[in-house]
Amino acid sequence: PNMQNLLNLDEIEEVATKQISKKCWAYYYSAGDDLISKRFNNLVYKQILLRPRVFVDCSKCDLSTTMLGYSVGLPLYVSPAAMARLAHPDGERGIAQGISSFGACQIISNNASMTPEQIVEGSLPGQIFGWQLYVQNTRQKSVDMLKRINKMKDKYKFIVLTLDAPVPGKREHDERMSSVGAQLPSPSAVKKARDGPGGGVGKSLFFGTAADLTWKDTLKWLEQQTDLPIVLKGLQTHEDAYMAAQFPQVKAIILSNHGGRALDTAPPAVHTLLEIRKYCPEVFSRLEVWVDGGIKRGTDVVKALCLGAKAVGVGRAALFGLGAGGTEGVERTFEILKAEIDTCMRLLGVDKVSDLGPKHINSRAVERD
Ligand code: FNR
Repeated sequence: PNMQNLLNLDEIEEVATKQISKKCWAYYYSAGDDLISKRFNNLVYKQILLRPRVFVDCSKCDLSTTMLGYSVGLPLYVSPAAMARLAHPDGERGIAQGISSFGACQIISNNASMTPEQIVEGSLPGQIFGWQLYVQNTRQKSVDMLKRINKMKDKYKFIVLTLDAPVPGKREHDERMSSVGAQLPSPSAVKKARDGPGGGVGKSLFFGTAADLTWKDTLKWLEQQTDLPIVLKGLQTHEDAYMAAQFPQVKAIILSNHGGRALDTAPPAVHTLLEIRKYCPEVFSRLEVWVDGGIKRGTDVVKALCLGAKAVGVGRAALFGLGAGGTEGVERTFEILKAEIDTCMRLLGVDKVSDLGPKHINSRAVERD
C-alpha cells in the first residue's frame, strides 16, 4: 500500500496486522492478563483536556528539544522493543533509517533481532541511540555486551536498565500462538530466542534474564561496567521515582508499565507523572523524566509534555509502522505524529516545546488523590 494514504496510527496498525504473521501480531499486540493497562495507557490521555489560548502568533513552531543534553528534532523517541525482524526484514536498522530525517532518538532492545553494530550502520551523524539492558543471570554476558556498546560511544549515548519485567507478564495472545512454529530471526545480541509449547515469544525471550536486581547492588555493579549515563525504565510510583533520584549516576527515568505487557492494572505513566508532581516535584529538576505507553496521537504526546515529561516513547507504533511498510512505514508513522504534534501545539498557542506546561491542560478527570 501507498504509505501516504494512511492517515493515522490506527490505519497503519490495521495494514500491518494484515501483512505480518499471526504469530508476530500476537507477540506485538499482546499485553498482560485482560489488557487493562494497555488500553488505559491510551484512554487516560483522552480524559485530559487541552486549554488552547488564542490570539497568539503561531506562524512558526519549533519541535526540537534535548534528551540528556543531545539535540533531537522532536520530543518523540522509539522505545526498546524486541524482535523487529519478525515484522519486516528491514528490522531495527529499518526503524533507525525511518526516523533518521526527524532527528529522533531510538533505544535498542537487549533482545533486538540485529546486532547493535548492524543497527547503527549508515545512521546519520548526530543521530543518537540508547541501549536497553536486561541483566542476565550469567552476568558476564551483560558485561561483554556493555563493552561492545561502550566501543560505539559516537552512537550509543546512554544505557537503559529495564526494571518493570523481572519476570514476563501473562500474555495470552502470545501464549496461544506458541504452538505455531515460526523461524525467529536469530538475535545475535545476547541469547537465542527459544520458542516451544507453552511459551510464546515473550516468555522465550525472557529465558536467562535476572530477577534478583536491587537498588542496593545493581546500580553500583552497572556503574562499574559503563561510563555512559544510566536511565531506569519501568518506574510506576512516586516512591521509586524518588529513590531513582538519590543515585547520581541515574540521569533519566522512564515512567512505563511496559505497554501493559507486565503487570496488568499497573498505572499508566500519566498517573505516575501526576504522583511525582504532587509528592516529589524536585525529581523533575534532578533528572529527566521520559514516558511511554499508549501513544496514538500527537495530542497524547503534548499532554505528557505538559505534565513534565521531557520526551515520549512509542513502542508498538514503530513496530507496526515497520510491519506496514518497512523503513518507509516507520517514516510515515513519525511523519504523522510529528505533524499532529505541530498542529496541536500551534492550536494551543505554543511555539516551542519548553513553553508547554500544566496551564495548557485540565487533568482533573484523571487525578485520583
Ligand atoms: C516491548 N517493550 C520492551 N521494553 C524493554 O525495555 N525491552 C524490550 O525488549 C521490550 N520489548 C518489547 C516488545 C514489544 C513487541 C513491545 C510492544 C514492547 C516495551 C516498550 O519499550 C514500551 O515500554 C512499550 O511498548 C510502550 O507502549 P506502546 O507504545 O507499545 O503502547
